[in-house]
Amino acid sequence: MSCLVSSAIRKMRPQDLPDVLAIEKRSSVTPWSERMFLDEFSNPFAFCYVIEEGGAVKRLVAYICFRILGNESEVLNLCVSPSWRGQGFGRKLMEFYLESCLAQGVERSYLEVCSSNDRAMGLYRSLSYEVVGRRKRFYQGRFDAFTLMKTLRKTRIATSKEDDPI
Ligand SMILES: CC(C)(COP(=O)(O)OP(=O)(O)OC[C@H]1O[C@@H](n2cnc3c(N)ncnc32)[C@H](O)[C@@H]1OP(=O)(O)O)[C@@H](O)C(=O)NCCC(=O)NCCS
Repeated sequence: MSCLVSSAIRKMRPQDLPDVLAIEKRSSVTPWSERMFLDEFSNPFAFCYVIEEGGAVKRLVAYICFRILGNESEVLNLCVSPSWRGQGFGRKLMEFYLESCLAQGVERSYLEVCSSNDRAMGLYRSLSYEVVGRRKRFYQGRFDAFTLMKTLRKTRIATSKEDDPI
């Protein structure tokens, strides 16, 4: 049975930060600090969510932070705990994010990714993100950064007239 069956997405809380910071440190050479997460909590345009896995005993396994400003949005941080990767949690958070964007009228979603991050690139490409920019040697003076963008299509809502049988 997939782990996703017993997983749930909820807003990140300050008391999640010890778990989140531990995952950050194991996942990034430039991990976010506690201050950076707290700044997102107090930013009215920012949103942070986590996935918890498990029944009675829950474990925080992944998180996402993004901002929505008018019709544009940017993913600032997406991370799955190393031991929980490859089980669909990253995709689940991205799909949740894109649904939130659609619900809030976002038309373009941006994110930045290291050119050597094959796993993340695989995920974003499968969600129809396209490379729209490249910063040479942006990460540790070695790896390029790709700016990716996805255009979100508005869902067409049928009018009551269209719904009527002819
Ligand atoms: C990138 C990351 C978020 C992906 O999350 P994940 O839970 O491991 O990925 P999922 O299991 O949801 O897989 C989603 C897609 O990613 C791609 N993917 C997963 N594992 C992969 C691998 N080993 N190699 C290449 N692509 C891979 C596939 O396209 C996969 O699609 P599928 O569902 O059809 O198999 C996660 O690996 C992570 O946290 N990495 C460290 C932090 C990071 O790089 N964040 C992104 C910064 S831009």
